[in-house]
Amino acid sequence: MHGFIFIEYEKFALNHLSYKAWDEILAENNLQDRQYNPVTIYPDSEIRALLSSVSRRTQLPQEQLLELFGMHLVPDLMKVYRAYINPQWRTLDLLEHAENTIHVSVRKSTAGAAPPILQVFRLRHNEIEIHYVSERKMIELGVGIIKGLARFFNETDNISVELLKNEAAGSSKIMVRQLF
Ligand code: HEM
Repeated sequence: MHGFIFIEYEKFALNHLSYKAWDEILAENNLQDRQYNPVTIYPDSEIRALLSSVSRRTQLPQEQLLELFGMHLVPDLMKVYRAYINPQWRTLDLLEHAENTIHVSVRKSTAGAAPPILQVFRLRHNEIEIHYVSERKMIELGVGIIKGLARFFNETDNISVELLKNEAAGSSKIMVRQLF
């Protein structure tokens, strides 16, 4: 996973924990000497360990942490990847292009980056279905990103997000609807 994601995760965790608790978490995972570089790829096991430690300390389930973290990520994701984002897009348009424009560019711009494969279907002008396939099984992060995008575009009251999780079948989906 991108160093950028780790750097953001530290900022996010510090909204929920003290610096002392964060230092202890790094130490308990032998990561006290890690300096994350935003465009270097680090082992997924490190983000998993950090998720699990923060979950234990905050008593928040990992799924909920991932969703909150996804929401937190959006403003900086929109800044860093603005070159790939059409300024005319709103939430549903951006979702329609999240795979073919954004994740494709992420894979090209950083060797080793492996964002999930999203299959995106615009079923109607006001409805999008996203199929998520990733070994990482972090679909709640995607749910959070979508909610964060709705907030970024001031469309929170207007966008509904429904997660249909089916890990046993190997793929889960998210339905996103614009309500009015
Ligand atoms: C502004 C739009 C977006 C940007 C710039 C973006 C960028 C990224 C980047 C840089 C990563 C890290 C990949 C890596 O280190 O290998 C990532 C991962 C991820 N993205 Fe996106 N993404 C966007 C939209 C979305 C959307 C709409 C979803 C909805 C499902 C999504 C779901 C995820 C998930 C779940 C991951 C975690 C890795 C995994 O599950 O395999 N992203 N994204």
